[in-house]
Amino acid sequence: MKSLKSIKNWTLTKSLKNNNFSFKREYVLKFVPSLFLTNAFTSISNWKNYRATPLIKLDKLKKNLKLNNIFYKDESKRFHLKSFKALGGAYAVEKISKGKKNIIISSATAGNHGRSVAWGAKRLGLKCKIFVSQYVSDSRVKEIKKFGAEVIRVKGDYENSLNECKKLSKKNNWKIVQDVATRDYKLVPQLTMAGYSIMIREISKQTNQYITHIFLQAGVGGMAAGVVAGVAKYFKRIPKIIIVEPDRADCVLQSIKNNKLKKIKIKKESIMGGMSCNEMSYIPWQILKKASNCCVSVSDRNVAKTVAMLKDKKLSKNSIIGGECSTPGIISLIGICNNSSTKKLIELNEKSNVLVIGCEGNADVKL
Ligand SMILES: Cc1ncc(COP(=O)(O)O)c(C=O)c1O
Repeated sequence: MKSLKSIKNWTLTKSLKNNNFSFKREYVLKFVPSLFLTNAFTSISNWKNYRATPLIKLDKLKKNLKLNNIFYKDESKRFHLKSFKALGGAYAVEKISKGKKNIIISSATAGNHGRSVAWGAKRLGLKCKIFVSQYVSDSRVKEIKKFGAEVIRVKGDYENSLNECKKLSKKNNWKIVQDVATRDYKLVPQLTMAGYSIMIREISKQTNQYITHIFLQAGVGGMAAGVVAGVAKYFKRIPKIIIVEPDRADCVLQSIKNNKLKKIKIKKESIMGGMSCNEMSYIPWQILKKASNCCVSVSDRNVAKTVAMLKDKKLSKNSIIGGECSTPGIISLIGICNNSSTKKLIELNEKSNVLVIGCEGNADVKL
């Protein structure tokens, strides 16, 4: 295992035990109801070209880390969007448009959510307006435009693009499809999370091994909460849930530490762009504040190396194309295996069956 020698010194930036942990299926499914999950699977599994994405074993890495199994859910194969996001925004567009053809869909995005919304609108023949900040790369904009959406660039950060989207949508009566929940904007984010839960529905049929640990990367927490809802509905045994964030954008860790929603200041954007978020979404907060066992953060240092290792078959038999946001589960798993106290805390050992989410392919080819 010479080629994996260098991972011996990979570290976590922070790790935090959730002192308020208490996983209850009914509690989780109060926020994303079971029927939403059933309906999402029924609809999406009937879309053209639907296929469960591969669940790949990272056998070379598991040997090195002395674990029983490491499963990698390869979302680079999700429809042709190359990201789990295809399951969320596009599904919400379908649900809220209710078969109407004369409506215009709008959304603000850091990239992937907007692609999903644009794709969802195109699938249904609807017009779509996507708002992006000045920081969203040209190649991500190009990807959104491929689906026929009009892209509107807004000066400033994501929040500015969201405010502009809200303002123009109100004025023009466009239907906003946003994945971030607030106290008074819940339904669309709930539908989005219900879409994400499909990953767990698929996994429950793809292996008969009980998953003992799930590493979930978080931006605003929507993907993590959608997966946790899936776990509450579809898994027989509840695994340990570990939330992973870029250390420059650890809003989940800070919220759990303070036991209240915390808005943080991002001094420098992480290369894991989709996860560079400063505040959690409201419903994910309600779910993750109880359901996560532990939060960890990692630096950008090993992101490019991990993308290369996935591609060069250093972790598994087959080559895997992953983007930046596909790496933090692997990076933090390695970091925990190098840190005996956190490893002990989450009871990670030679019997563990770990799941990491490879949530995107090379969505930003240039990067
Ligand atoms: C590829 C990728 N992974 C993970 C995330 C984090 O998801 P969430 O913001 O729902 O926590 C994002 C968010 O855009 C993403 O694009």
